[in-house]
Order: sequence, then C-alpha cells, then structure tokens
Amino acid sequence: MPDRDQTEQRPIEREEFRRRAASLLARFRSHTDADPEWTYLSPSYALVGLDEWSIGDGAAADVDACIRDLHRSAARRGIQRIVVEVVASDAPALAAFRAAGLRDSSVFAVASSAGTSSVRVQVDTVRTAGTEDRATIVALAREEALFQAVSTSAGTSVHQPVALFEALADDWLGDLGSTTVLVAETGLPTGRPEILGLMVVQDTESAASERGLGLPERHGYIAVASVTATARGRGTGSALFAAAEAWCVGRGLDAIALDYIVDNAAARPFWSARGFRPVVIRLAMRVG
Ligand SMILES: CC(C)(COP(=O)(O)OP(=O)(O)OC[C@H]1O[C@@H](n2cnc3c(N)ncnc32)[C@H](O)[C@@H]1OP(=O)(O)O)[C@@H](O)C(=O)NCCC(=O)NCCS
Repeated sequence: MPDRDQTEQRPIEREEFRRRAASLLARFRSHTDADPEWTYLSPSYALVGLDEWSIGDGAAADVDACIRDLHRSAARRGIQRIVVEVVASDAPALAAFRAAGLRDSSVFAVASSAGTSSVRVQVDTVRTAGTEDRATIVALAREEALFQAVSTSAGTSVHQPVALFEALADDWLGDLGSTTVLVAETGLPTGRPEILGLMVVQDTESAASERGLGLPERHGYIAVASVTATARGRGTGSALFAAAEAWCVGRGLDAIALDYIVDNAAARPFWSARGFRPVVIRLAMRVG
C-alpha cells in the first residue's frame, strides 16, 4: 500500500483549472511498475489532493466544467486516470464530483484500536516474522497486489517486478523498531508449518492533514493484509488483525488506519466489520 508521505513519485506537471466558483489544481504523475506507490494508483494519473480544490456555493456546474477540462488535458498527456480526494463527511463535494462522473475508488479508513476485534476461529498461530521469512513475505505482499490489480477496479499493474516486493520486505524487516511484520501459520502439530497470511503494521506519525481529520499524533498504519487465496474466509485475517491491534495498543497507538479499494469484495466487509470508517474518499475517472 502506498506510504502517503514518502512517495518516490514526482509531479511531472502542475496545471490550474479555474471557473467562477470552483477550482482544481491537479498534479500529473507517472511512475513505472517498479516505483513503490503501487497498490492503489494506476501508472499515470492526475491527482487532485485534499487541499487542491475548492468549490463555491452552488458551483456544481463549475465542477463539471473543471473535470471536463482536466479530462481533456489528461488525455493529451496520456494520463490514464483522474483521482480526487474528498473528506468523507463532505457530502456536497462528494455529490458534486459524483455528478461530474467520478466514482468512489479507494478510501483511507480509520478505526479505534480499543480491542474491538474478536477471533472467530483460532485456526492459526500468529507470530512476528524475521529475515528467515523474507521469501514468504515477498510472496504474500505480491499476492495482495496481484489480487487488487486483477479483482478490483484499482487500475494498478499486474507487472510489478518481484524486486519491488523484495525491497518492501527489506524495508519492513529493517525497521522492526517501528514496524511489526506478523505472519499466520497453520497450527498443525506435524510437518513444517505453512505460512498462510501476512499483516504489516507501521507506527506512523500522522500528517498535518490527517491530524486535521481527527487522527492522533501517531497511528498504526496497516501497510499490507494478505491471506493466501486457498486460506481466505477461515479466520486467518481476523487472527492477524487481533495481533496487529494488540501491537498498537501495546505501543499506545489509539487509532489504526489503512487504505482499501472500495470494490475489493474481500477487504471492504472485513474492515468495516472491524470498525474502520472512511475518513478520506478518493474518487476516480478513467481517461480514454
Ligand atoms: C481481506 C483478507 C485479508 C481477510 O482475511 P481472511 O482470512 O479471508 O478473513 P477472515 O476469514 O478472518 O474473516 C472473514 C471475514 O472477512 C470478510 N471476507 C473475507 N473474504 C471475503 C469475500 N471473498 N467476500 C466477502 N467477504 C469476505 C467477511 O467480512 C468475513 O466475515 P465473517 O467473519 O462474518 O465470515 C483476505 O481475504 C485477503 O487476503 N484478501 C485478498 C487481499 C486483500 O484484499 N487484502 C486486503 C487489502 S486492504
């Protein structure tokens, strides 16, 4: 999942769109399959961030015109997707962007870490992973990304190289002071335990915009949640999340946050059942 503050992507162009009562400032970005901001964004996109638009009273028609301008400009540059970030409680803005043809795409969601989760079936053992688990961590992180690319409308690439996931695994394993890498194993008494799932949680300083949305100074950020396809729906994800929540509570982190794609049929019910509520909604429109 993308690190919201440490993207390697560079804006390739800034362009301002102004009408009577609405304005959008878009950052056009392109990246390769090997860049780290890989989970939610297509290889080229125009991002209109939370602080980069404004809508005056009764300006829905202006929003529509702004989006049409942006669409034309993006198409000229070979941009694949327009993404606009909106605070989830801003109903008029959500309505205006939806009326202009954008659709809910992904959310930044937050839950309290007050121990709300329950483990339905304790089939697995959850433990903290180490460097000896690197290959499995790489495989499960890749499986999550492929699932999202194939099974959701995220528009992400299926061609991200293994080296990208190896680099992410090394980052996580090299930062165990503020990251926990949790794996769930089969609890079979015989044979070699098989790793079924991975959850990575990072002790993260909340950005100013996130604090403005009610997040505390620090929060636990779930960077990856991945249960291998054959093991899903049996309680492995629940067991991993219970351990993730306990880690957050142990570090005094009152809130847990993550990003998910709204049409991820596995993730959306899983996170909402665990108390996660959207704080920021990203609306998207395909170009071309
Ligand atoms: C999301 C995920 C981590 C959940 O782990 P899991 O082991 O399957 O989940 P559990 O068995 O502990 O919990 C099942 C719950 O998850 C939800 N769920 C899981 N898979 C689902 C599916 N295919 N369709 C609908 N709901 C699903 C349900 O809410 C279910 O509720 P229940 O407890 O009432 O049965 C796992 O399904 C997964 O890895 N999915 C693919 C990758 C992914 O989408 N990762 C999350 C990115 S944000």
